[in-house]
Amino acid sequence: MRDLPKVELHLHLEGAAPPSFVRGLAAEKKEDLSGIFSESGAYAYDGFVDFLRVYEAATSVIRTPEDYGRLVTTVLEELASQGVIYAETFVSPDFFGGGDLAAWREYLAAMEEASARAETRDGIILKGIVTPIRHFGPERAKAPAICAAETAGEWIVGLGMGGNEAVGKPGDFAWAFDCAREAGLRLTCHAGEFGGPESVRAAIEDLGVERIGHGVRAIEDLALVDDLAERGIVLEVCPGSNVALGLYPDWRAHPIEKLREREVKVTISTDDPPFFHTTMTHEYERLADAFGWDVADFAALNRVAAEAAFCDAGTRDKILKRLEAADV
Ligand code: ADE
Ligand code: ZN
Repeated sequence: MRDLPKVELHLHLEGAAPPSFVRGLAAEKKEDLSGIFSESGAYAYDGFVDFLRVYEAATSVIRTPEDYGRLVTTVLEELASQGVIYAETFVSPDFFGGGDLAAWREYLAAMEEASARAETRDGIILKGIVTPIRHFGPERAKAPAICAAETAGEWIVGLGMGGNEAVGKPGDFAWAFDCAREAGLRLTCHAGEFGGPESVRAAIEDLGVERIGHGVRAIEDLALVDDLAERGIVLEVCPGSNVALGLYPDWRAHPIEKLREREVKVTISTDDPPFFHTTMTHEYERLADAFGWDVADFAALNRVAAEAAFCDAGTRDKILKRLEAADV
């Protein structure tokens, strides 16, 4: 499973920071972050809202463009070791530069440079999706959308939205999504994770997204499931994240197999891997155990992910050729 070439579409950059990386930065900056770690040194949180708090506390020590460059290098080394050949990562100007465009360009340059170095070294390709944070509200979502629109291009390929789905409705953020769409960016949004099927419908109808982050709770409305299949909406499914955050009691209870059986385009990602004690290889192994999926099933899901990637056509061809070369 580890050697299988993989495409990952749903990965939060700060959420992929290993605890040791965050502890190292906290020590350099003389910040006390001991409250967010367990005795064994893992991230410690209790449920989704507390997870978001710990996530934001960890993120608070990742500050400079250089810190973000180092983070991209660290994350891509780990991803490459898991067989990932292409990834898209959520980056949030709210967490660095405060939505200021000039500052954003500096952070972006550092991340792009680290990403280009990793591509030269390991062949892994990374693209960025700018991500407003839902619980910061619709007004604050405008600045990241402008940052995304102004820097749309080879590396910034999309706009997404993460954060607490309990706050507001997708339609409240239409300005940000319209701004990104007009700049030629592709669109995705977290929905149907802690929100129900109606949140998935609203993200599609009110924001016009073509992919959904998670979207698994669509399973509670089979008419919606069939609609997703018919429209070819792609779900960025993160089963280990859903199990870790208590959405499903175990892997066998996860709806990914039912969604796939009803011909929804599903893909597999890790979301915030060190927070959920997972890796792409671990996800594949648990799915193989739970549903009997074999290497051919995973190869097919990776082709779906490559087709749904927000990158340019040349990059997509490159990824598809690498998947084909390893085909089973
Ligand atoms: N930000 C980081 N991980 C997230 C998740 N699983 N849901 C919503 N926002 C997030
Ligand atoms: Zn996510």
